[in-house]
Amino acid sequence: MTLMTTLNPDRFLADLHALRGIGASGVGKGVIRPAYSDADIAGRRWLMARMAAAGLRVQVDPVGSVFGLGDPGLLLGSHTDSQPQGGWLDGALGVIAGLEIARAAREAGRNDLSVVSFQDEEGRFGVTTGSAIWGGNLTLDKADSLTDHTGTTLADARARMADLAGAFVEPAQFSGFIEMHIEQGPWLDQAGENVGVVRDIVGIRDMRVTLRGQQNHAGTTPMHLRRDAFQGLAGFNTLLNDRLRNVVTPSTVWTIGHVSVSPNASSIVPGTVSFSMQWRDGDSDRLNRMEAIIREALSETATARGLTLETGPLLGLEPVAMDTRLRSALESAAEAHAPGKWRTMSSGALHDATNVARLMPVAMVFAPSIDGISHDFAEDTAEEDLCTALKIMAAAVDAL
Ligand code: GLV
Ligand code: MN
Ligand code: MN
Repeated sequence: MTLMTTLNPDRFLADLHALRGIGASGVGKGVIRPAYSDADIAGRRWLMARMAAAGLRVQVDPVGSVFGLGDPGLLLGSHTDSQPQGGWLDGALGVIAGLEIARAAREAGRNDLSVVSFQDEEGRFGVTTGSAIWGGNLTLDKADSLTDHTGTTLADARARMADLAGAFVEPAQFSGFIEMHIEQGPWLDQAGENVGVVRDIVGIRDMRVTLRGQQNHAGTTPMHLRRDAFQGLAGFNTLLNDRLRNVVTPSTVWTIGHVSVSPNASSIVPGTVSFSMQWRDGDSDRLNRMEAIIREALSETATARGLTLETGPLLGLEPVAMDTRLRSALESAAEAHAPGKWRTMSSGALHDATNVARLMPVAMVFAPSIDGISHDFAEDTAEEDLCTALKIMAAAVDAL
């Protein structure tokens, strides 16, 4: 008997929907399960019970990543935390697919599969925090002092899971890591294709910037005497878009996604603006050139407008290529289960696989995202496509 005969797509979908019920946003199929929130911890407890019921040994590491361990062999999974306004599949898909495949394998007499849900992939405290620490990209000590947008430290947040936490899981027991995920972009959906096999994952840089001017009265302060922090951000953004033009490619992206204006009142000239500055590209050199341009544009803006400039720690992950052996097992399975309806592609989203690649061979498989929407309650994928991706990953695991 092989795991393909015991694989149960209905059970997989039922588990996915059960997890969606934990932290459900009430808007579409969306979820609100940011790392270490009550809903995230409840989701992790639910997962631990499902892993135990499948016969896996459950171990939670000091960061809160949940492992369901079998005998030495492949590790499967992703993350169950979500963005502050997240979709039901981002991360959850890879964890539940891993759970179903490991469970089906055990029913078929094969115990060498393990499953993981990494903590804080969505970067409440940085970038793919749980796997970055496990993979050795970031020390726990350094990570502990990282703060979220409200000033809470990772150390304080992870203390909320202290009753579950044990030791770090030894990576040497795993021969490779396979992560299923939704594409989170438009390409498969637009082409009417059912599956993507990932070739590489882009790199990222992310830092927090603060511009400080002079808070003042919005009625009495003449425009030429203002040191308006928000105007500083607006000017910087225009300058940056112009300066980056000659350096970027059509696949380079940059985002100011979180902005906090202080004191955020209609009749006060803003004294402080603090914002996230993130950029991504498949080429490390380009990421570095962009950093230089960003820092220069910030400093010119601050000087020209009489603002002071502070930048937080620069977090980053380098671009990573997938392992050719694992990838070709996924490609053969894709051709068998979705003939002519799949492609190899780059990932513009970050994934735990980037960090795990420091420890072992990794590969990824994508299901399409309807209208390319993700990091939004509206994120969705046809259930038929979810099941096709499940079968492809199971067939690849079977072949390996
Ligand atoms: C992960 O969710 C990312 O931002 O790519
Ligand atoms: Mn994800
Ligand atoms: Mn995400």
